[in-house]
Amino acid sequence: MAIETPILVLGIETTCDETAAAVVERGNDGHGRILSNIVRSQIAEHAPFGGVVPEIAARAHVDMLDGIVATAMQEAGVTYAQLSGVAAAAGPGLIGGVIVGLTTAKAIALVHDTPLLAVNHLEAHALTPRLTDALAFPYCLFLASGGHTQIVAVLGVGNYVRLGTTVDDALGEAFDKVAKMLGLPYPGGPQVEHAANAGDATRFHFPRPMLGRPDANFSLSGLKTAVRNEASRMTPLEAQDINDLCAGFQAAVLDSIANRLDVGLQLFAEQFGPPTALVAAGGVAANQAIRGALRDVAARARTELIVPPPALCTDNGAMIAWAGAERLALGLTDALEAPPRARWRLDDNVEVPATFANTRAGF
Ligand code: KG4
Ligand code: ZN
Repeated sequence: MAIETPILVLGIETTCDETAAAVVERGNDGHGRILSNIVRSQIAEHAPFGGVVPEIAARAHVDMLDGIVATAMQEAGVTYAQLSGVAAAAGPGLIGGVIVGLTTAKAIALVHDTPLLAVNHLEAHALTPRLTDALAFPYCLFLASGGHTQIVAVLGVGNYVRLGTTVDDALGEAFDKVAKMLGLPYPGGPQVEHAANAGDATRFHFPRPMLGRPDANFSLSGLKTAVRNEASRMTPLEAQDINDLCAGFQAAVLDSIANRLDVGLQLFAEQFGPPTALVAAGGVAANQAIRGALRDVAARARTELIVPPPALCTDNGAMIAWAGAERLALGLTDALEAPPRARWRLDDNVEVPATFANTRAGF
């Protein structure tokens, strides 16, 4: 049964290195309001290792989550009895963390007799522009984070078509690995962007992987290896060398993103008609040069670029709560047996009844 009254959902996110909880309200008109959004990043715990250590992440989630949920509820000023449901990211992600978040949500659902929503983390990223901008379907999502690089046609709640993905490293992962090999601290994305701004992008010409291919997939490992080879050839590196290597790497990434998204948007238009917008999400969308490239891509495709505010682009609880609210509005809930999933493709979501699939006329 679809719900017609305002929906109040607590959302929990623990799939990677952010422990987060939020309370979001979805009004009758479908508009969202964030009542609280608490995020605690574990960057400090993982920085000494140059990347996220799954066991450390899971333990930190265990230590932090109860307090963060309590703070989110308190800041929102709501009681558990007022909740319409409790949502947790049930994957994809680091399984230890996913288990912590999902189990906590199940306990709350059981104790307070409220529905559970086992949300796909990628679906939560995909639906965020409906929370921030009340964006109508169908739109094209470019999700680029430390764990994911995907171009997705978002056609309706539970109705997604993956148009492109990376065949090896995620974009943020490539930034982090390049930073690490050049001796820059973790997380590397902002460091590489900063160094690139002071560098000469014409000094090195790195390969532009997948350029001109008819599919919309990404590949980053060849580019990363090319940077590594050049760096080890020149060791010891001066500060200017590092800046120039970062600038060369970022220039190759920009060309690759532009070409892959040109193709992705072309595929989108052929299959689903014009999108309402190109939406960028994930930590990599914070990169100003990448945003510039995305603006050009959107202009070429005659569509608008929407980038949700940074705090809602990176992992957070509000996006999980919102995805839960969107599903609850369609009467979709999950059993307490819902499994935590390390892998979970967005287009595996086929359980939405056809009547709820928000497709366009003629599609
Ligand atoms: O979405 P996010 O905060 O967390 C997940 O990975 O789920 O994304 C973090 C990733 C990291 O790999 C980080 O290096 C990258 O986003 N990143 C950037 C920038 N800021 C963050 N990559 C390139 N340029 C940036 N300015
Ligand atoms: Zn994410």
